Amino acid sequence: MATPLMSILMGSISDWPVMEHASKTLEELNVPHDVRILSAHRTPDALFQYMAEMEKQGVEVFIAAAGGAAHLAGVVASKTTRPVLAVPMETKLSGGLDSLLSMVQMPAGIPVATFAVGKAGAINAALFGISLLALHHDQYTSTIADYRRKRADKVLEVGDPRKG
Ligand code: RP5
Repeated sequence: MATPLMSILMGSISDWPVMEHASKTLEELNVPHDVRILSAHRTPDALFQYMAEMEKQGVEVFIAAAGGAAHLAGVVASKTTRPVLAVPMETKLSGGLDSLLSMVQMPAGIPVATFAVGKAGAINAALFGISLLALHHDQYTSTIADYRRKRADKVLEVGDPRKG
């Protein structure tokens, strides 16, 4: 398997049905990536060990998904200078507003880039990660352009919804 350029981390297997969309997006766009369930509070030592290993292997961008008191992305960012993209998971308490605020309200000094709650955030974090890679992996510039063109074509194909 190719050396991973991105790593998708999530706090629990319960996050996978949403984060699968991030992985599928990277797969579709041929971005080698690793996926791992590790938690900032349940498995901190294993998390730090994994991150060191991923950095050694050349991972350039981390995606971190968590729900509730969603500190995973912040903890990941505390251990790396590489960009960390945070995806808040939906929760029963508030539909994910708690997760969103936990991530977006990082105190100054250790930033994480926070995306929308749920599936849209998972997909956009993957796409944004590819934009970061494209800064010095030229091939991903056309990958993003093609992806957008295909989606635009789909919209244009529909045209008048009454003539479906
Ligand atoms: C977080 O707590 C996880 O990221 C998950 O979103 C949430 C609930 O985890 P489980 O209790 O479903 O394992 O750490």
